[in-house]
Amino acid sequence: MADSGTLHSDSNSRGIAADLARAADALETMQASGELAPVVTVAPASPNVPPALFGAGGPMLKRFDESTVASRKGSTAPSPPPSVKGIGKKVAKPDYSEQKIVVAMVGLPARGKSYLSNKLMIYLRWLEYDVKVFNVGQLRRTKARQKAQKLGVKENHNAEFFSHSNAQATQSRDSLAEESLEMLIKWLKEGGNVGIHDATNSTKSRRAKIEARLAKEKGMILIFLESLCDDPAVIAANVELKVSQGDPDYKDMSPDEARKDFLRRISEYEKVYETITEPHLSYLRIKNVGEEVTMSRINGYLSSRIAFYLMNLHIRPRNIFFSRHGESQYNVEGKIGGDSLLSPRGMQYAKALPALITDNIGEKPLTVWTSTLKRTIQTAQYLPYTKLTWKSLDELDAGVCDGMTYEEIEQAYPDDYANRDEDKFNYRYRGGESYRDVVVRLEPVIMELERQENILIIGHQAILRCLYAYFHHLPQADLPYIKIPLHTVIKLTPKAYGCDEERYTLPINAVDTHRPKPKAAKQPNVHPTTQRIYYVEEEVKTSA
Ligand code: SIN
Repeated sequence: MADSGTLHSDSNSRGIAADLARAADALETMQASGELAPVVTVAPASPNVPPALFGAGGPMLKRFDESTVASRKGSTAPSPPPSVKGIGKKVAKPDYSEQKIVVAMVGLPARGKSYLSNKLMIYLRWLEYDVKVFNVGQLRRTKARQKAQKLGVKENHNAEFFSHSNAQATQSRDSLAEESLEMLIKWLKEGGNVGIHDATNSTKSRRAKIEARLAKEKGMILIFLESLCDDPAVIAANVELKVSQGDPDYKDMSPDEARKDFLRRISEYEKVYETITEPHLSYLRIKNVGEEVTMSRINGYLSSRIAFYLMNLHIRPRNIFFSRHGESQYNVEGKIGGDSLLSPRGMQYAKALPALITDNIGEKPLTVWTSTLKRTIQTAQYLPYTKLTWKSLDELDAGVCDGMTYEEIEQAYPDDYANRDEDKFNYRYRGGESYRDVVVRLEPVIMELERQENILIIGHQAILRCLYAYFHHLPQADLPYIKIPLHTVIKLTPKAYGCDEERYTLPINAVDTHRPKPKAAKQPNVHPTTQRIYYVEEEVKTSA
């Protein structure tokens, strides 16, 4: 070994060559004495570069992995996927099973309850919590349809059904709300983390019933989330959304009839509505989505995180633009990671980008976020907007594979390569990150994105995939395969339920860095728009 026991870290290639020669001698001696198994020779990256004995692709690291497999076994998560030998490993989802939270919505119709429920569900699912919305209106329709099929009795759910002076209907609505809560509790007991009771829960007595029921369950936390809205424009937009965008309650009515009926329904609820003032309850009251927030008795990690997220939401119109950096020198060489500069074509993209963005945004203010890596900062350099750099936006850390091509990784570590392909979201490079790790570190970025207005992110492939999956609510397994090509701007326009999307590709050639999902029949698609899903109907036993 070298005198100091370590290799030189300076760039003197003669020194490195001498160190490597001494290391190789030491290896040979150890091998000859039977201390080590024979060395497997790995092809170096280029004929001019000596084999990296201690780096990725080097025999020392590989040997170390094989000899320490047993000692690493104890550190795996409670129910890990099959372990992997080599430079990285699949990392099991952290155990969130202790968290049991009921978020009970409160609010008049058309006040954004379903919007908040949906946003909260998407955010927490992106972070891999098990979340489900239990929508009482949906249960009501499902049961009514079952009753009609079985007994041929058609229930009328017009505004009269929502009048509190209609005793029979009130009883029926109360029992639907209770049944939905029972389904939610059952689901939490079966392993769910956050169940959202999407109902009006508009009176103190209804909230007291929920509280009394949950008091019987050990370890379940109850938070009420009240959505107040006194902005006539927002209420009118919500009413329009309800009557003209496929709400099943109004599918057989003209938009005019539907509007009238829905407004009457709202006024029926207004007659008995009681805002939350119960001092002993845990609650969050949000007025006009973010304008004013009241928080009472919110404790604990996940509850506080839920509250913090909801406090940051707003519904002002805005655009979020994503662009990868221009083509980099590493892209051209097919290498991953690193901190290389742009290629000449990447520079052309950086110069063309300002015209495309200003054409789209006009006079409106915009802030540009980049990572701390040179290629994103260089791409942003001609943009005439405020720029901020975020460490959290740096590319997925490929650890010991940083600077290698995929071919080199495949050749050096075929097992790892295959394992990453099999479960790319969970695969963590040795000394680096998995997609899951990236999602976790991007959480503050999402929080800030929700708070901000027009933002352009000049980012990296893996980073933008994670952010894109949040905005389009895509599953974790698809996330690492989302197409985010070079020299393309993705413009997202958040809407009540999801996002519209446009893509602009500049006519400047670039390499294709996308690796499709192996053996998969279907690749995840570009999502030009996401819309409200009227939740999949529950299979419920009807008492009819
Ligand atoms: C509904 O049936 O649409 C809502 C019932 C409620 O929560 O009041």
